[in-house]
Amino acid sequence: MTTISIIGSGNMAAAIGTRAAKHGHTVELMSRNADKAQALADQLGDSATVGTYGARPAGDIVILAVLYASAVEVVAHFGDALSGKTLVDITNPFNADGNGVATTPGNSVAQRVAAAAPDSAHVLKAFNTIFGGVIAEDKPMDLFFAGDGAEAKAGFAEFAESLGMRPLDTGGLDMTHALEWAGILLVGVARNGAGFDVALGAAAL
Ligand SMILES: NC(=O)c1ccc[n+]([C@@H]2O[C@H](COP(=O)([O-])OP(=O)(O)OC[C@H]3O[C@@H](n4cnc5c(N)ncnc54)[C@H](OP(=O)(O)O)[C@@H]3O)[C@@H](O)[C@H]2O)c1
Repeated sequence: MTTISIIGSGNMAAAIGTRAAKHGHTVELMSRNADKAQALADQLGDSATVGTYGARPAGDIVILAVLYASAVEVVAHFGDALSGKTLVDITNPFNADGNGVATTPGNSVAQRVAAAAPDSAHVLKAFNTIFGGVIAEDKPMDLFFAGDGAEAKAGFAEFAESLGMRPLDTGGLDMTHALEWAGILLVGVARNGAGFDVALGAAAL
């Protein structure tokens, strides 16, 4: 198993961290609020550690579990500490009504994060098409992702599989804007009858 680092200590950090710890990974939590990171680490158990916010993450895969409006600022704060890392943007940049996204094609949050990250980092978008509560339930489910770097994608796909998820590569960094809209699709499906215990997936027919 491996070490993954999570920046943030909110709902998604808890959901992804819980699932990763359950599947044998060491989870490093890095939060601007060290007390919240410690509380979450205590909840996750012995396999969780607390890292220094802004220091070089221990994991090769770094999950950016913060609000979309803060993502670039957080990546800039870590700066060169993220060199060579696989950065996973999980944000949903919903507009105020929750019926569209606040980003535009070519300017997704993941693309903004990639522009702010060190050149040697690879940026993926993933986990935004699943509700946190569903991730934590630990059932098999599809995980759409997109981004750059064949090696980074292969490593991330292996990590997803280790969590009991089926990774579905949707394309390059330019596809991350489509995944942001897929987050809207998820909410639309949930609000219009399916309920919030759902994840988006693809069926083989
Ligand atoms: N919840 C879901 O079901 C779900 C599903 C798919 C995708 N997402 C996406 O996942 C991301 C996290 O969602 P969440 O539900 O975990 O949110 P959350 O519970 O509000 O947690 C947000 C985290 O971001 C941190 N943060 C916010 N602004 C920051 C800043 N300027 N600098 C550093 N850290 C900052 C917060 O730190 P503090 O605690 O110190 O404020 C907190 O740890 C969001 O972008 C959301 O769109 C959520």
